[in-house]
Amino acid sequence: MTDRYTRTAVALHWLIALLIFAAFPLGVYMHDLPLSPYKLRLFSYHKWIGVTVFMLAVLRVTWRATHRPPSMPGTMADWEKLAAHTTHYALYVLILIVPVSGWLMSSAKGFQTVWFGVLPLPDLVGKDKELGDMLLEVHKVLSYLLFGLVLAHIGAALKHHFIERDDVLVRMIPFLRKRP
Ligand code: HEM
Repeated sequence: MTDRYTRTAVALHWLIALLIFAAFPLGVYMHDLPLSPYKLRLFSYHKWIGVTVFMLAVLRVTWRATHRPPSMPGTMADWEKLAAHTTHYALYVLILIVPVSGWLMSSAKGFQTVWFGVLPLPDLVGKDKELGDMLLEVHKVLSYLLFGLVLAHIGAALKHHFIERDDVLVRMIPFLRKRP
C-alpha cells in the first residue's frame, strides 16, 4: 500500500492547476472585450493554454490509470470518501472535455487553433455558425462547472489540512512533508 503520490502525479497536478487558474479568468475577461487585435491575441493565448491542459490531462489520466494513488485516511466517513471520489472523477472528465469543447467551438466558428503559433491543429468540425454558438454555451457551462469543482476541491484540501489535520494536502506538496 503506497502512502505517497509519484513525482509525475504531483507535477501534473500542479501544472494543470496553474494552467486552469490562467485559462479560466482569461476566458471570462476576454469574452466581453470589444473586437480588437488585443482580444484576438488573448484568444490565441487562451487556446494555447487550454490545448496544453488537454495534452497534460491525457498524460494525467493515463498515469492515474496505471499508478495507484495513496488511499484516503481511515478517519473519513464513507460519504466523504464517495464525495471525494466523485469530485476527482468529475475533475478528470472536465479537464479533458472543457478543452475539447473549446477546440470544437473554435473549429465551428472557423478559427483554426495553431498551438503556440507553430503547430496547426486539425479542425474537429466544419464551419457552422449555429453549432459554434451552441458550443460556446457548452464551453461556458462546463468551464464554470470545472472552476466551481476546483474551488470545492481546494476547500476540501484546506479542511483536511487545518481542521482534520491529516496528511492529505501534505502528500500533494512533498516539500511540506517533515523529514524523519
Ligand atoms: C482548461 C481549459 C479551458 C478553460 C478553463 C476555459 C474557460 C473558458 C471560459 C471561462 C471562457 C469564457 C466563457 C464566457 O464567459 O462566455 C472561455 C471562452 C473561450 N474559450 Fe475556453 N477554456 C479552456 C480551453 C479552451 C480551448 C482548448 C479552446 C480552443 C482551442 C478554447 C477556446 C475559447 C474561446 C475561443 C473562447 C471565447 C469565445 C467567445 O468569447 O466568443 N478554450 N473559455
